[in-house]
Amino acid sequence: MDHFLYQNGQLCAEDVPVAEIAAEVGTPFYLYSTATLTRHFRLFDEALNGLDHLVCYAMKAASNQAILKTLADLGAGMDVVSGGEYARAIAAGVPGDRIVFSGVGKTRDEMQAALAGGIRQFNVESEPEMQLLSSVATEMGKTAPITIRVNPDVDAKTHAKIATGKSENKFGIPISRARDVYAMAAALPGLHIIGIDVHIGSQITELEPYRQAYLKVAELTDVLRADGHDIRRLDLGGGLGIPYERSNEAPPLPTEYGALIKETLGHLGCEIEIEPGRLVAGNAGIMVTKVIYVKSGEDRDFLILDGAMNDLIRPAMYDAHHDIIPVAEPAAGIEQQPYDIVGPVCESGDTFAKKRMMPPLSAGDLVAFRSAGAYGAVMSSEYNTRPLIPEVLVHEHQFAVIRARPTFEDMIKRDTIPHWL
Ligand code: LLP
Repeated sequence: MDHFLYQNGQLCAEDVPVAEIAAEVGTPFYLYSTATLTRHFRLFDEALNGLDHLVCYAMKAASNQAILKTLADLGAGMDVVSGGEYARAIAAGVPGDRIVFSGVGKTRDEMQAALAGGIRQFNVESEPEMQLLSSVATEMGKTAPITIRVNPDVDAKTHAKIATGKSENKFGIPISRARDVYAMAAALPGLHIIGIDVHIGSQITELEPYRQAYLKVAELTDVLRADGHDIRRLDLGGGLGIPYERSNEAPPLPTEYGALIKETLGHLGCEIEIEPGRLVAGNAGIMVTKVIYVKSGEDRDFLILDGAMNDLIRPAMYDAHHDIIPVAEPAAGIEQQPYDIVGPVCESGDTFAKKRMMPPLSAGDLVAFRSAGAYGAVMSSEYNTRPLIPEVLVHEHQFAVIRARPTFEDMIKRDTIPHWL
């Protein structure tokens, strides 16, 4: 459920007509709903009621500070994967003790910054990382709280580019080697083991892969405790999928996911962390673009939009589907026609949808890409020297630009011409 609905023939974001924002901000732009962000965060938070828990939003999904602050004010922690994300979370007012640091390639500088600024835990992914973290912490006279990310070797049944829990993936340490690696970590002076971390992939649309992974984590908890490790926190990663194609997808709900966590891990008495990104932000954001031209092709018409692959890369990168709807509500029963929906970038990959059935559209009409709140703005680029598109946040009847569109001058002045030219 989200808060982008037609009211009086116009798509609205909460109580604000999208066309009004477009007129003020210009297209294309990303538009987020506070009410949807709040609702989705609470769904997870409430799904874990009864367990000692923290929902750490995976901020890689959408990292504007206004979004982070909206969630942090509700009690969210953050899952960060870079020094930049850590600094951004701190800048948005998230306390260090609510920030977990994930990622397969943490650098010395990133470790130092997080240890200096405060950190809930590092989710460590390899032996060399463990060794480096121990020495950085020791040099700073500190002890780093850690979990070790185990790779449970389960098939998350998702797109190959976003599956992470199979043994061939680069993530975590094989669960079969966990006892040795935990013993090694326990012997390092700068580390303090507090738990186990697992994350099997993203856009997961069935609970079964989670069940398999979490049962393995439960078993491992017993084994590691018997080895003398104080396992008291389980970070279960993110990954719950969203319905991109609303007409025929119904992924599991956070409540069902929460029930599975309780069923598989509830008896262990551990504090539970989860790291959802997509399900919090995905359907809380749309991308609004304008039709520049309608071009007739041989066997189909093309809708050429002012938004492009550099603004929303998911269709080009993952063949991802996004529902696309007109901002002016189509008349009931209007006949639809097939369009190829494309951007203006000079490559055929700049195609959002092929033969998509849409009501008839004309130049100047606005369309909205649904489910664009996660992995939308954060993955955009300035390819073709197209400015990063603005981000706007709605709250009831108000809206605010939370990242302005740079001018051409802003972009161009970032280059430096060397002295020999
Ligand atoms: N935790 C870790 C360690 C992760 O690597 C990720 C996502 C998450 C949490 C959050 O997963 P989520 O709840 O958002 O599924 N760009 C791709 C998705 C990449 C996901 C990477 N890791 C896309 O647009 O589909």
